Amino acid sequence: MWFQSEGINGINVGNITNKNAYLEKIEIKTYKLIQRSYRYMSDRVYIFDTTLRDGEQVPGCRLNTQEKVEVAKKLEGLGVDIIEAGFPVSSPGDFTSVVEISKAVTWPTVCALTRAVESDIKIAAEALRFAKRPRIHTGIGTSPSHIKYKFNSTPEEILERAISCVKYAKKFVEDVQFYAEDAGRTDNEYLARVVEAVIKAGATVVNIPDTTGYCLPTEFGEKIKYLMEHVDGIHKVTIATHCHNDLGMATANTLSGLMNGARQAEVTINGIGERAGNTSLEEVAMILKSHAELNLDTNINTKKIASVSRMVSSMMNMPVQPNKAIVGRNAFAHSSGIHQDGVLKNRESYEIIDPKDVGIDENAIVLTARSGRAALKHRLESLGVHMEKEALDKCYEEFLKLADKKREVVDEDVLMLAGEHRSARNRIKLDYLQVSSGVGIRPVASVGLDIAGEKFEACASGNGPVDAAIRAIKKIISRQMLIKDFLIQAFDKGSNDVGKVHMTVECDGVNHNGFAANSDIIAASAEAFLDAVNKAVVNNA
Ligand code: KIV
Ligand code: ZN
Repeated sequence: MWFQSEGINGINVGNITNKNAYLEKIEIKTYKLIQRSYRYMSDRVYIFDTTLRDGEQVPGCRLNTQEKVEVAKKLEGLGVDIIEAGFPVSSPGDFTSVVEISKAVTWPTVCALTRAVESDIKIAAEALRFAKRPRIHTGIGTSPSHIKYKFNSTPEEILERAISCVKYAKKFVEDVQFYAEDAGRTDNEYLARVVEAVIKAGATVVNIPDTTGYCLPTEFGEKIKYLMEHVDGIHKVTIATHCHNDLGMATANTLSGLMNGARQAEVTINGIGERAGNTSLEEVAMILKSHAELNLDTNINTKKIASVSRMVSSMMNMPVQPNKAIVGRNAFAHSSGIHQDGVLKNRESYEIIDPKDVGIDENAIVLTARSGRAALKHRLESLGVHMEKEALDKCYEEFLKLADKKREVVDEDVLMLAGEHRSARNRIKLDYLQVSSGVGIRPVASVGLDIAGEKFEACASGNGPVDAAIRAIKKIISRQMLIKDFLIQAFDKGSNDVGKVHMTVECDGVNHNGFAANSDIIAASAEAFLDAVNKAVVNNA
């Protein structure tokens, strides 16, 4: 809503949601009164998405440039204001991704991260050369431990470096964002000096990260309030929050920051990010939408949240925890009898959000063996997957095979089929797998692999059927490969269900995530293992 319709300062304006009509109706003539009325309007909160930078820093979640461009376009469609596309100096892959994302998106600002180092800034500016709205995000640690141990420096030297990096970045772009790393543990008085100095040096946005996720919501809110009240020139710039979730308070801290004057929230899809992750985009967007009394609005088209969440989860092979707020599988599932009864009588008894508002349509057409290609295409698109005709034809063939085995094909099945389409690009494919196992015998597996068109075979025994299959694969691919994480989940219920497997495999010291789904869970496990190994092969190519 543009402003509250109950009226301004006691003047009843009826049901008007258009600014001009409103001004005409009550004939506000003086500038002073208009200014006063603005206090009742919603303020805009800018959504800065760092899924492709801070989110992608998670071991095993790396995307290639093409995948990053796909995600960036989805973020643009979702209504994100700023996309942090990467850290160009960190790798050639990050540099190229920033270049390609800059070309691919139209209206969001594209941002590139740097340290307070001139060569970083120069390279970031080069990577941003095609961006319609480029932003350089530069900064330095300001907490006592960063100053002393990370930089072996002094507060005064750090202040100088902060000023210099902003001034240097300003030579390349107008829009310069400064971050005070570990601001959460930085003394407020010193932080205010740094913020004031970088504003004078030309920063347009100042980011106050709670890098370690340590702050309490009241403490973080007070920090922002302190800056708003003590920094000269702060009202000329945007203050940003960037909260990590180490103590589970990232969203609460972000909200507290916004309620005290910050107007940019730095977030990731599904809250992914290093350690316990970052603030979730979907949580911030839905809190602000649900609590109109905060008078804070975003540009997020919340109906697209579910599909973007699923796309990021499947591309990064990062399962979303079932009870995750807004996007978890159980977020709108009512299993207890009392709750089901209440929801059936009136949804609002137990639900504060209509699932349709986040893009979950429970009445969507059910996909079965009689569904056509168009229905499958429509469902894929609503889940955030676009396929050209040839890929769609292949996917439809697989869909019909699955629909023959299952009564009903659910969204997860469709995403699994789309994943198979992605894994079709893998260089190493499972040609065949035969396993004999049972009670009282040691399981044995024979495996056939197709590696870039060449066929290989091996046999092995193991503690269980999955162990035997993986051992056989390891006989063909002789690299250091260690399974670090292994999760098998059923999509649905019933013994005819498809099992999905997420696996993290350490290959030559680096973690890679793999995913596969199959009605045979041993095959799904072998395929997930190979999916991870394929990523290692691509990264080393
Ligand atoms: O958590 C953090 O402090 C960051 C900065 C680099 C912005 O990610
Ligand atoms: Zn961070």
